[in-house]
Amino acid sequence: MKILTTGTAGFIGSEFVRQAVEKGYDVIVVDCLTYAGDLARLKQVEGHYKFYEADISDFQKIDKIFAEEKPQAVVHWAAETHVDRSIIDASPFMKTNVIGTQSLLEAAKKYSVDKFINIATDEVYGELGETGTFYENTPLEPNSPYSVSKTSADMLGRAYFRTYGTPVVTARPSNNYGPWQFPEKLVPVVFLKAIHNEKIPVYGKGLNIREWLYVSDCADAVMTLLEKAKPGTYYNIGSSQERTNIEVVKNLLKLLNKSDDMIEFVQDRPGHDFRYALNYNKITNELGWKPKILFDEGMKKTVEWYLENLDWAEKKLDYLREYWKTVYKK
Ligand SMILES: NC(=O)c1ccc[n+]([C@@H]2O[C@H](COP(=O)([O-])OP(=O)(O)OC[C@H]3O[C@@H](n4cnc5c(N)ncnc54)[C@H](O)[C@@H]3O)[C@@H](O)[C@H]2O)c1
Repeated sequence: MKILTTGTAGFIGSEFVRQAVEKGYDVIVVDCLTYAGDLARLKQVEGHYKFYEADISDFQKIDKIFAEEKPQAVVHWAAETHVDRSIIDASPFMKTNVIGTQSLLEAAKKYSVDKFINIATDEVYGELGETGTFYENTPLEPNSPYSVSKTSADMLGRAYFRTYGTPVVTARPSNNYGPWQFPEKLVPVVFLKAIHNEKIPVYGKGLNIREWLYVSDCADAVMTLLEKAKPGTYYNIGSSQERTNIEVVKNLLKLLNKSDDMIEFVQDRPGHDFRYALNYNKITNELGWKPKILFDEGMKKTVEWYLENLDWAEKKLDYLREYWKTVYKK
């Protein structure tokens, strides 16, 4: 099967490509290589995929790629993904996540693909209190510009299925972590600050709760959807591994033999959702998928990977330090 994948020079998408190549699929990578994209993530499978440098919101370019390649399936990962950036400027989020998704759905409709996996997020549901979980039919109540853009893309997929019969399957994964994550996200940023013996900024009191999903489990779940899910369906992808941010940070510091004194509580993110947690019985019961990697094991593997790939992470940190100076003026 020929699969056109988008955003697969990014963190989770690149893991999906590694798995897809391993399984013998014919893989096309479409990515415009923003600050978050890096083909180094695909070095392991170099020569086993075809690459198009293209912005998904460029309708003409996307149409041309579909016309040339005639993919049977689309797995759409490309997005602007960092909530903090969406709070500073929502525009790139609307352009890529909403218009970009529309352009891909248009092409999928015109060239009659057999399946379109639309990657959404657990953040579409809004926030939970101390108890309860989100089901696939929980009403969508996104709170940040990022999650609103992702919810719009999720709903566009719904509309194309209902209106045109485009064979869309929607995936809503929880918080990912693992190798190759860009170091502006919690786990790698804490890792890098810790090894530089710098203060570790933690929002509020660090009590926000996320459900931590190891990246290879997420990619494997999406592969399951590609191979088994029926068009017009929605699936949560979770891990049951709930942790507060402060637990995550302390766990990392312990793995690195560093003291908790390095933690510095900073002003909370505006509109910060308290808790996300998914009920993912549907994908387990219907399609037989379940996560394989528990939090402690995944965190250990992640730290080992970053220690072995420090050069890559340090280069990203250099870029980020310049970016933070322009944004936070310090
Ligand atoms: N990381 C998580 O915890 C998480 C959780 C749930 C859902 N998701 C979703 O999974 C997907 C992948 O997330 P990630 O963390 O790997 O993202 P990422 O930020 O690491 O990578 C995004 C990729 O998309 C590319 N991209 C961005 N704008 C583009 C455009 N206009 N045209 C073409 N390519 C473009 C970037 O160059 C990059 O390679 C996203 O849709 C995200 O919303 C992520």
